[in-house]
Amino acid sequence: MEINLYALGSEADPYPTYAWLRREAPVYREEELGTWVLSRYEDVYAALRDHATYSSANGITPARGGGMTGSLPLITEDPPTHTALRQIVNTAFTPRRVLELTPDIDQVAADLLDAIDTDDVEIVEALTVPLPVIVISRMLGIAEGEHERFKRWSDAVAGTLDAGPASTPLEEMEIERRNAVVEMLTYLAQVIAKRHAEPTDDLISLLVQAEIEGERMTDAQLVGFCVLLLIAGNETTTNLIGNVLNILLDRPELWARLREDRSLVEGVLEETLRFDSPVQMLWRTVTRPVSLHGVDIPQGDMVMLGFASANRDATEFPDPDTFNPERDWGSHVAFGYGIHYCLGSPLARVEANVALNAMLDRYPTIERGEAEAVRVSSSVLRGFASLPVRVGSG
Ligand code: HEM
Repeated sequence: MEINLYALGSEADPYPTYAWLRREAPVYREEELGTWVLSRYEDVYAALRDHATYSSANGITPARGGGMTGSLPLITEDPPTHTALRQIVNTAFTPRRVLELTPDIDQVAADLLDAIDTDDVEIVEALTVPLPVIVISRMLGIAEGEHERFKRWSDAVAGTLDAGPASTPLEEMEIERRNAVVEMLTYLAQVIAKRHAEPTDDLISLLVQAEIEGERMTDAQLVGFCVLLLIAGNETTTNLIGNVLNILLDRPELWARLREDRSLVEGVLEETLRFDSPVQMLWRTVTRPVSLHGVDIPQGDMVMLGFASANRDATEFPDPDTFNPERDWGSHVAFGYGIHYCLGSPLARVEANVALNAMLDRYPTIERGEAEAVRVSSSVLRGFASLPVRVGSG
């Protein structure tokens, strides 16, 4: 079977293809870009644990020229560089700090939902896109009123987390997008210079001052890290919220149950991460020859790790194609695993939790709107570019 990996994430149902890969070709050779594909839970998990063999330093997508994801700090670094940087950013990005932000995130969600004045809502535009953008720009200390510009910048860089022919290195980006990226880098460098001179209590100030054993981040690392937060944090969280709403639109009885019993919200979100993972796959490069299931992978080749496929593997999750928020979802790899485990997972979880609770508070019912929902067109990310809903007012 010939598989177009670079269209899978945007398909209505890529899961039968993943099931075929797991069953028939656990080490699949994809010819177009010449990468290997791992799809079984045990193989993806083992690769994530073995970062010495499965390196991130060559980029985490096989984008031509690396796109902007070819050389980001942290996520495309191996130890020891990764270890030192992760320690520094960990000090600024703690779960406790995220918890402190919860009332603020509640307010952002309430304001966005207050602004809706009709029962027919394009929920991506109204809630799922602006929520993470506003939250991260506030965390970084980007001035109020700059959020719109920030969103434009975020869109310009988000498109670069793409594998395959669709992705474009900076020098080949269309001029408008390139201008947006350059404008963003300049703006961030200015904010960083200001925080050096006069620190406040925002995340950039914390990052500027954070040090481990006398080491601080360089200005280039600081700018790169801010860009990473945009790429890694915004569209992924947008997609998680869109995916959970999409699932609930087909399950009105679960919506009603959730309204009565909010203790189920966590299970619904974690099961969504497993069942329809916002990051479907990422790549590594093998630093030595690897032999797996009788197939030899030469040193230096790129290997795709199928997070979404692993999360549907029946050996780890019995009855994997059933959405069951009460199952044991603890071992899903939607946020990765090991040294690169998602730094922003506490923030993403709080944002999705707040968004879903705010919707449940307001709307006794929610149905599909008349217009078609549109999937994000991406090889790597899975979510909705548009999700029209009709909300029932209380
Ligand atoms: C539902 C939302 C999210 C999903 C599904 C997600 C998924 C992931 C995954 C799979 C990885 C591992 C990458 C790898 O192994 O190569 C990762 C890493 C990372 N994520 Fe997230 N992410 C989400 C939200 C966020 C947010 C909100 C932020 C920050 C604002 C963030 C920041 C990061 C960073 C900095 C890394 C790199 C960590 C490292 O290399 O040590 N993510 N994320």
